[in-house]
Formats: sequence, C-alpha cells, structure tokens
Amino acid sequence: DTQTVTYDPGFMNTANARSAITYIDGEAGILRYRGYPIEDLAKNSSFLEVAYLLIYGELPTGDQLTEWDENIRDHTMLHEDIKDFFNGFPRNAHPMAVLSSAVSALSTFYADSLDPFDEEQVHISTIRLMSKVPVLAAYAYKKSIGQPLLYPDNSLNLTENFLRLTFGVPTEAYELDQDVVDALDMLLILHADHEQNCSTSTVRLVGSSHANIFGSISAGINALFGPLHGGANEAVLNMLDEIRDEGTSPEDFMEKVKNKESGVRLMGFGHRVYKNYDPRARIVKGTAEKILNKLGAGDERLEIAMRLEEKALNDDYFVERKLYPNVDFYTGLIYSAMGFPPRMFTPLFALGRLPGWVAQYREMIDDKETRIGRPRQVYVGQDLRRY
Ligand code: SDX
Repeated sequence: DTQTVTYDPGFMNTANARSAITYIDGEAGILRYRGYPIEDLAKNSSFLEVAYLLIYGELPTGDQLTEWDENIRDHTMLHEDIKDFFNGFPRNAHPMAVLSSAVSALSTFYADSLDPFDEEQVHISTIRLMSKVPVLAAYAYKKSIGQPLLYPDNSLNLTENFLRLTFGVPTEAYELDQDVVDALDMLLILHADHEQNCSTSTVRLVGSSHANIFGSISAGINALFGPLHGGANEAVLNMLDEIRDEGTSPEDFMEKVKNKESGVRLMGFGHRVYKNYDPRARIVKGTAEKILNKLGAGDERLEIAMRLEEKALNDDYFVERKLYPNVDFYTGLIYSAMGFPPRMFTPLFALGRLPGWVAQYREMIDDKETRIGRPRQVYVGQDLRRY
C-alpha cells in the first residue's frame, strides 16, 4: 500500500540551524539582533557597530569600535589584478553577478588564510570581506556605466567610502550629504541579518562542507539575487515604473494580482515568516517620506506605493493571506532618490546582509555539533525497472 507521504515544498521550513544571533517573531512582527530590538538599533546605532554586535555577540566598547573601524579602513585596497578581472565582464553585466564572482575570486588572492578553524585567518577574512565588498560593489557599478574606478579614501568610514566610490569622479572632490550617509547607514542596519532566510541558509549549507568563507558568501549573494528574495527591491521599482508608465491605477493593478494574471505578484509584499507588518518596512516607510522630501524627489511612485499598501491592507485577498509590506517595498524609492539605479538595489541589500552572513557562517563553524548539510527528499520517481 502506498504511504501518504507529505513533503514541505519550502523544505527549509524545518529548523535546520541552532542560532543565537537573530530572533524573529513572525506573528508579532518582532526582530532583534543579539537581543536588541531593531527599532533601538536603527535609531541609535551605526552599521559598523551593528556588524560588530552580530559577529562578536556584544556591542563594542569605544576602543573596540575604533579598532574595528580602523581595521576595515586599512583593508579597503584591492589587489591591482582584480581590475583586470572586472575588465573581463560585458559592460551590461548585472552588478550582482559581478559581485558574487568577485567575492569568490577574492579567495584566490588569500589562499593562505582560508582555514575556517584558524581564528586568526577567520579574523582577517572577516575584515577583508567587510572592507572589500563595498569597494567591489561600487566597482561593479562604475564598470557598468563606463566610468573610471576610484581608489578608496581611508579618511572615510565604510558607508561614506562606498558612496564616494559609487558616485565620486576623479575630476572633482566628492561632497558627502550627511542625510544620505545617515539614511544609507540605517538601511544597512535593517538588512544586516534575518535568521535563516534563503541566502543565509545557503551560506550555512555551503559552509557546512567546510568551504571557505568567501565561496560560502558568494553562494549567498547568488541566492539573494533571486527576485523572490533580495532581488525583490529591484522588482518593486520595476513594478511601480510599469504602473506609472502604463497609467494603470493601483486599484486595477491589484485586481490583476488577485486574479494571478501571468504570475503578477505584488513585489515587496508577503513573507515566509512575518504574518504581520515587517518591522523593518515600518522603519523604512518613515525614512522614505523624510528622505524623499529632503532630496526633492517628490516621487509619484511613493504615492502609487502608498495606494497599493492602502488597498492591500483593506482587501480580504491580502488580509486572508496575511500579506504585508516587507523590507523591500519602500527601500527602492529611497535608493532611487539617493541616485542608485535599480540594478544597484540588490547589491545594497548584499552589502547590508554581509555581516549577518559572516556571523552565521562563523557561528555554524564554531558549533562543534554542526554536520555537513544534507537535506533529504521524498522520492516520487519511477519504481524499479529493467533496462
Ligand atoms: C526577503 O526570509 C527572509 O527573511 C527574507 C528577507 C530577508 O531579510 O532575508 O526578509 C528578505 O526576501 C523579503 C521577501 C522579498 N520578496 C518579495 O517581495 C517577492 C514577493 N513576495 C513573494 O513572492 C512571497 O510573499 C514570498 C516569496 C516572500 C514568500 O512566499 P511564501 O511564503 O512561499 O508564500 P506563498 O508563495 O506560499 O504564498 C502564499 C499565498 C499564495 O496564494 P494562494 O496560492 O494560497 O492563493 O500568498 C500569495 C500566494 O499566491 N502570495 C502573494 C504574494 N506573496 C504570496 N500574492 C501576491 N503577491 C505576493 N507578493
């Protein structure tokens, strides 16, 4: 007799990790890094301080934060040969594909310090990733627009350096807009970790074979690239552009979503865990209005987004499915106002998630009970048959 065997299509729904880094309560819409509520950290902390907290488990003292910041500034330079690597990509290469390749390639320059069980090597790899990934992300953008690559300026911190490398040009000094620096720093905090999401589970699964940290994080970048995951922030802006350019009313668009026309989804909505408002989306929405007014980008897409949200929160189709805005719904509008093109939105997500991936990889490696990841399956193929 055939067993009725059920399988879970979201196979990783089963608890596949033991972690002390991030706590989420999906029903209540709670998110905490190492016990600290995301609202407190977004309001009072900095991305560098939060990265330290996630990786080392405690908020840094003043001296520890200074040393952490100095270490990262000291390692922003890339090996000159990495530039040849960038020249090999077609001009229109998507920055996420470039970033995942470049991060994996970094391991070839540091072949002598890839041992996941040597504390010193893990420490220097952590610093190298935190310092060089922002540079690589900026370089991917510069290559795509045919502008020269700048050298990092170590008088600037991670967020400031990234902005200057992305938008600066060699022909003039780059003026930092403190409101933009502060808004981006806060957005990076909001993306820094999120428990066992698709890309973090990928980093842990790859790392569980004792693969080096660069290759594991490169795999995470590829998972994040998917439009159902980190790629959603770019997909939201494309969706808002389409609604605006086609003159569709948000209300009519929502009918298409409800009728599930050709896979039309309300990008930036829904979440596997949050069945309430994503606490990060609430914080981003508050910033969106402030920064959009400040940058004079009175963007009509914000009004479209708010009408979509208004409709969703009052429509049974969405309410029954507990579909609320997630972290990706409003972020693209802010990134756009800062001057980033949509194809740079997911690299920005990767930049924010980087300390979370590093923290989760290190925690998995340090957990002596970790074994190689080996999900099982329900076999639904052919019975035994002879050739
Ligand atoms: C991130 O996991 C994380 O923590 C991820 C993340 C992180 O910080 O790492 O939070 C970041 O990835 C946020 C999510 C970004 N993705 C999007 O915004 C893409 C649009 N959202 C979805 O495709 C969807 O909501 C997911 C992928 C986020 C969650 O998918 P699930 O949990 O597998 O939900 P489902 O596909 O089983 O949908 C359940 C129902 C279905 O309806 P029925 O088939 O039951 O009729 O809800 C519907 C779906 O059709 N649905 C949507 C929808 N999301 C789910 N309908 C319209 N629009 C949507 N966005």
